Amino acid sequence: MVRAKDSPSYDQLPWDRHRSSSALPGVDFTPAQILDLQQALLHWYRQHGRSLPWRETSDPYAIWVSEIMLQQTQVQTVIPYYQRWLAALPTIATVAAAEQQQVLKLWQGLGYYSRARNLHQAAQLIQQEFAGQFPSQLEDVLKLPGIGRTTAGGILSSAFAQPVAILDGNVKRVLARLLALPVPPRKAEGFLWQWSDRLLDLTQPREFNQALMDLGATVCVPKKPDCPLCPWSNHCRALQFNLQAELPVTETAAPLPHKSIGVAVIWNDRGEILIDRRPQKGLLGGLWEFPGGKIEPGETVMDCIQREIREELAIEIEVGEPLITIDHAYTHFKVTLNVHHCRYLSGEPQPLGCDEVRWVTLEEIDQYPFPKANEQIIAALRKNQK
Ligand code: ADE
Repeated sequence: MVRAKDSPSYDQLPWDRHRSSSALPGVDFTPAQILDLQQALLHWYRQHGRSLPWRETSDPYAIWVSEIMLQQTQVQTVIPYYQRWLAALPTIATVAAAEQQQVLKLWQGLGYYSRARNLHQAAQLIQQEFAGQFPSQLEDVLKLPGIGRTTAGGILSSAFAQPVAILDGNVKRVLARLLALPVPPRKAEGFLWQWSDRLLDLTQPREFNQALMDLGATVCVPKKPDCPLCPWSNHCRALQFNLQAELPVTETAAPLPHKSIGVAVIWNDRGEILIDRRPQKGLLGGLWEFPGGKIEPGETVMDCIQREIREELAIEIEVGEPLITIDHAYTHFKVTLNVHHCRYLSGEPQPLGCDEVRWVTLEEIDQYPFPKANEQIIAALRKNQK
């Protein structure tokens, strides 16, 4: 992979050698070439496009749900979640009326839970301001929580056949290769938007955008793109310069910080476990978890748990045997959860660092939405019980 700092020899690229007369710098296509790109892509899509459940509907609500789920999650993971969601919440009105807990439970395992909270909030807004009908004006759609420009384009082109461009991660990669973009896509967003817009087939925006996503997902993939199968190979500047494996230019990623957390499974005499609901704002907001916190420098896991439980819940516990150690990577950091069995001793649990606390049995615990890493704690508790 080419890094931003040790770039390929850009003097080979079309960018600097023949600056075009177009408003867009560097590289250009004639109107005839653009027409050819559109037709080749649509022809390829008719033969090789994926058949996906959200392509069988023009219900803006269902398409909206799919686009939100697909924001950070792969198609194959999304399909069963999408089907389960629509079966449980078939209309905007049902989402608006649902409890947040049900919404988060339907999302459990998909990650990036702010997407579910935003869907819930947006459904309530649509009920109030648009009489339960998903809006069809771009400016209205962009005001809904959780919907940025590319998601709006995906929904409006798909549900209302409007000529609104998209630019998700796959599309950025396809365009970066087509244009042999010499910088990381993040540094050329405006430029890439202009190209996505310019290439869009105004007569078939729905098919064109879906095709562009499929091209990125199935042919113009990050590693080893299948250029011989690509409908754009005749025009692809990366292929012409044999740079398809080097592009897009990547940014040097900083290593993820690592946090070590002490986590308590606190048992009372009735065989119940204490869980707490995380504050709405912030990472994993609104989800339930086993209480605990960050291990300070020089602190043991057991001391950390004792301290955190005192600070966060104002109760006394006895920290017992280790249950499990879990390593988990979030987007911006990694965590190690060091989980111990604990025994409740005294005090009334107070929700000092969280929104709510509750004693639950292992049987009841499935009703509560938990972050992915916590599911392993529940599985370990179940295994121990058998
Ligand atoms: N990613 C985002 N939107 C998508 C869609 N409609 N189909 C496939 N992948 C997608």
